[in-house]
Amino acid sequence: MANNLRYDNQVVVVTGAGNGLGKQYAKFFASRGAKVVVNDLGGTFNGKDQNKGESRVADAVVKEIKEAGGIAVANYDPVQNGEKIIKTAIDHFGTVHVLINNAGILRDVTLRNMTDADFDIIMDVHVHGTMKTARAAWPFFKKQRYGKIINTSSSSGLFGNFGQSNYAAAKMAVVGFTETLAKEGAKYNIHCNVLAPGAASRLTQTVWPPEMMEVMKPDFVVPLVGVLVHESCKESGSLFEAAAGHYSKIRWERSEGLLLRPDESLTAGTILNNWNKITDYSNADHPTRPANISEFFEKASALSSNTASSPLSLKGRVALV
Ligand code: NAI
Repeated sequence: MANNLRYDNQVVVVTGAGNGLGKQYAKFFASRGAKVVVNDLGGTFNGKDQNKGESRVADAVVKEIKEAGGIAVANYDPVQNGEKIIKTAIDHFGTVHVLINNAGILRDVTLRNMTDADFDIIMDVHVHGTMKTARAAWPFFKKQRYGKIINTSSSSGLFGNFGQSNYAAAKMAVVGFTETLAKEGAKYNIHCNVLAPGAASRLTQTVWPPEMMEVMKPDFVVPLVGVLVHESCKESGSLFEAAAGHYSKIRWERSEGLLLRPDESLTAGTILNNWNKITDYSNADHPTRPANISEFFEKASALSSNTASSPLSLKGRVALV
């Protein structure tokens, strides 16, 4: 069973499913019993013709799925009109269970040469598009107390990449958006995760050598997505990488840090003198929420009024100077 996960009676929406990763997701879910909405506007990789609405690539994937005995319907709307994509799922299949926000474009240019249009189109497709489809699917997820979302980020967003500040900004926005959806969806059994994939596609063919394209098949990314949106998977609010058969999870790390008394000793000079404490990861933790500021404040204030209370113990969390 574990080798053959199934999605019978599940309605799966895949955006940007006419090419690359999206096409492989769509074919996979259809081959495992799902009813699939194949969304794609059939544009170029750099989004120069986003408004054309060319149906050929989505139709070709639907045809392939149907010929293999699967169930699929095409949608040609841009993800910026995400409510229309979800409407296609509702009109044809009655609901939606899984949303894979995968559509994407690149408009690589260094900041110095970037126009507003270069930035805006990237934010539009990746951030607005992801929000629009998720917001439209949400009421159905909530009502049926079940929903799975995969939003697509990128190593460029997580780590930065030369010439991609627009794309990096959008892809990091997708992370914060998804972490928030995971929190909002928890009580409704809605699970939301982020994927940073790596795969041979038209987005990468100009930057990677042919031998790399061979080991970076989109097919190798698909199984992780299959697991994350399977009904047995409870993972939510997490960030995964998948490329060339390697799968990993990424998380935040917070150093133990430095806590200063709220008095005249709290200066830039004191911070500089203790820089190693702020940046030392040896007693780090892996937070999923902000630091406990009120706890810090109480402890630091207590020390301020009674300096004899040193050494400070904040359950081993904070170093005091
Ligand atoms: P791809 O170019 O092969 O496929 C993307 C598809 O999205 C295309 O068919 C395109 O027509 C469609 N699309 C573009 N704008 C759209 C819009 N506004 N509405 C609907 N469809 C639209 O690209 P690939 O490589 O398969 O990328 C898929 C996702 O993975 C993207 O979000 C990309 O940013 C992300 N990604 C890919 C990486 C890779 O190594 N291929 C690396 C990191 C992230």
